[in-house]
Amino acid sequence: MQNNLRVVTLDGPAGVGKTTLAKRVAQELSIAYLDTGAMFRIFGWKFGEAAPGMSEKELDAHIAQYTFSLSGIGFNSVLSVNGTPVGDEIRTEEVAALASSVAKLPVVRDALKRVQREISTQTSLVAEGRDLGSVVFPNAEYKFFLDATAEERGARRFKQLQEMGKPTDLDIIIQQIKERDEQDRTREIAPLVAADDAHIIDTTKLDIDGVFAAIMSFFD
Ligand code: DC
Repeated sequence: MQNNLRVVTLDGPAGVGKTTLAKRVAQELSIAYLDTGAMFRIFGWKFGEAAPGMSEKELDAHIAQYTFSLSGIGFNSVLSVNGTPVGDEIRTEEVAALASSVAKLPVVRDALKRVQREISTQTSLVAEGRDLGSVVFPNAEYKFFLDATAEERGARRFKQLQEMGKPTDLDIIIQQIKERDEQDRTREIAPLVAADDAHIIDTTKLDIDGVFAAIMSFFD
């Protein structure tokens, strides 16, 4: 059974459209969608502010309190923490920044790597994140790395926030994206980087349908 399970990885920087695409690819393949960023966000939200000052033992004790599970397929995939589906409370720029800072900690990365691998032994999945093709799933069946300029990603995010009725400033959004990129790309462990054998897709000039078609063209 285990050998028949599929793993597809989709990595890339913040705001590149990974979430929409990973869900759509998972739907097309009829397998689950795993949002690994949500796992880091949960930790960022729950103990991110205190984390930099904690010993490994203290961090381990915090991490041990959380159990993740994944159910459903494609758009209907549900990631749960301690049996409760993850909600929108983690979808803020503040939690994103805390997530990025806990994501630098080896204990946190190791723990989530184990959890992600464990989930992949239970269900086929499209996993979305930063280090899935390079570190967590080096033997994934297909690996994709999406990229786009910070300006383009900022403009997309700005549009999204406007559509949600949240007034914001484009320059600030672009600045936040650049800061998070810097933090994610330069950390010592599992930095944001394309795996050697990943298909790299520059999405700057493509719309979602274009990127989806580019990804699906690699499947038989
Ligand atoms: O994809 P996201 O914005 O929800 O991710 C939140 C933060 O978590 C992001 O700044 C980097 C970190 N992250 C990571 O280090 N490794 C992953 N596989 C996924 C996310």
